Amino acid sequence: MHRTHTCGDIDVSLVNSKVLVSGWVVSIREMGKVNFIILRDRYGEVQVVFENKKPDFSLGYVVKVEGTVKKRPPEGVNPRMKSGEVEIYAESWEILNKSRPLPFLPEDDIDVFEETRLKHRIVDLRRPKMQRNFILRHEIILFIRNYMSSLGFLELETPILTKSTPEGARDFIVPSRIHKGKFYALPQSPQLYKQILMAAGFDKYFQIARCFRDEDLRADRQPEFTQLDVEMSFVSDIEDILKTIEPLIIEIFNRFANANLSSPLPRLSYLECMDMYGSDKPDLRYSIRFLDWTERFKGRGINIVDRVLENGGKVKVLRVPVKLSRGQIDKLLDDYKFMFARIENGKPSGNLAKFLNEEEIRENEGNTIFLFAGKGLNFLETLGDFRDRICKEFLKPEREWSALWVKDFPLFQWNEEEKRIEPAHHIFTSPYEEDMIYIKRLKESLVEQDEEGLKEISLKIRGKQYDLVINGVELGSGSIRVHNPELQKELLRIIGLSDEQIQERFGFLINSLEMGAPPHGGIALGIDRIVAMCAGENSIREVILFPKSTSGMALFENAPSEVDKSQLDELGICIKT
Ligand code: AMO
Repeated sequence: MHRTHTCGDIDVSLVNSKVLVSGWVVSIREMGKVNFIILRDRYGEVQVVFENKKPDFSLGYVVKVEGTVKKRPPEGVNPRMKSGEVEIYAESWEILNKSRPLPFLPEDDIDVFEETRLKHRIVDLRRPKMQRNFILRHEIILFIRNYMSSLGFLELETPILTKSTPEGARDFIVPSRIHKGKFYALPQSPQLYKQILMAAGFDKYFQIARCFRDEDLRADRQPEFTQLDVEMSFVSDIEDILKTIEPLIIEIFNRFANANLSSPLPRLSYLECMDMYGSDKPDLRYSIRFLDWTERFKGRGINIVDRVLENGGKVKVLRVPVKLSRGQIDKLLDDYKFMFARIENGKPSGNLAKFLNEEEIRENEGNTIFLFAGKGLNFLETLGDFRDRICKEFLKPEREWSALWVKDFPLFQWNEEEKRIEPAHHIFTSPYEEDMIYIKRLKESLVEQDEEGLKEISLKIRGKQYDLVINGVELGSGSIRVHNPELQKELLRIIGLSDEQIQERFGFLINSLEMGAPPHGGIALGIDRIVAMCAGENSIREVILFPKSTSGMALFENAPSEVDKSQLDELGICIKT
């Protein structure tokens, strides 16, 4: 080895020892007779002193240095470095490899465009913060593997070249050379395979699985990402899954992010969440929630409100425990329609003031209250948006961590753009038995093309689905699956597939269900989102080695790129221009 110790090993316990270390030169100070460099490797940094010598090093060079560890004089001690009490007095050295001038210094406090960082990812990854992020990622994944294995889950690998198993996003497809004109798809998740593994008798499965989805990118979305994918057999209830996975999640966050989560995490239904927070992933670090003032405001004489109420709408109020200025409220009014009142020393002001009774004035002392009237899911979603904005702009989180399970989502949702019913999670989710009566009504509305009816009934059919939400981010999602092949076919027909299409696309699933699939269910947790949150990063790109840019480019490798014409010919592909 080109070293006896790593840079991170060097400390006072080695004073007067001879050591050989290797690493990257990250700082050079030339003081004439005495010259200093800082040498860094994955494990740490150490200062090397060259007395009456000047090595021919530049920043970024890979070098090895042999020398003796000595205590630094008291005024030279650097408390920010782990090895800050000592330094190595160099006796001999060698350049192991040179480096051309670096595009930026691999330091944490650099200010460089993300595009440049991604293009020169190798330098970027040398930054101590990035090294820490990936060490953390390794530790979290190792912890998960040990944990799942200790519970009897088997880690099983499922194919990457596979058949399209649609889960809402577009597939990435791979042309087949041998079967010209045919394509594999990269898995959006191992969803169907894990269900089939239950039919195959493996009972408990997990995988650190790479998933591929051709969708628009955001800070928490990548086309290629990683899930902890889990499936269990013989589960009879949502709680069977939640109780298995919850301790793992709590342990990850408490151990790696110093959180103080404890079991049981709150469980809210989708409808409760929408009603109170206007969101199916509420950030409960903030306690403000929408109050229902529908009954209170019937007949108060506010024309717009009366009209909404006559139409079956609702009145919702958000009580914000700060006094917002008129300017701040006007800015909000640019984007949202509401009435408001500010109550100070028993006196309300604002366009809602004159409609409030004494009790309402008393109970809202010191607050700004916002009143909304409207109907339907879109209305609630707008409220959620508003709550998010208020929290971000005007409030401080009341706690550092908040986690909850959101469950019982509607099985189907109405796709307004495409004017069709689609699965809210995926079509393999089991409906609640007691809601099956609405399936018949849903089918009738489909035949009649009754849009309003479809929207209304689809909210009534609850799926046995659950999401894990931490600090307002969806970190995981899962469901109890359909194991009855007839019901599975029926659900596929509802989303518009013919029997031929069902056979062609999902034949292998249906066959497995027909050959004795046990009741089963599972979940997938987004590893990138979990690691990013534990590392305190806002973007999952900070915890993915070579992420794609927002325009889907792999800037380091420069992909996607053109391929040779001969490759295309072999695949029988001709590019349209
Ligand atoms: P779902 O599609 O909800 O469920 O995904 C589960 C979790 O994976 C993460 N995730 C992503 N992370 C980064 N980039 C993306 N593009 C991305 N998409 C999803 C999220 C999400 O909560 N097969 C089902 C799970 C199941 O039913 O068991 C599935 O994949 O954290």
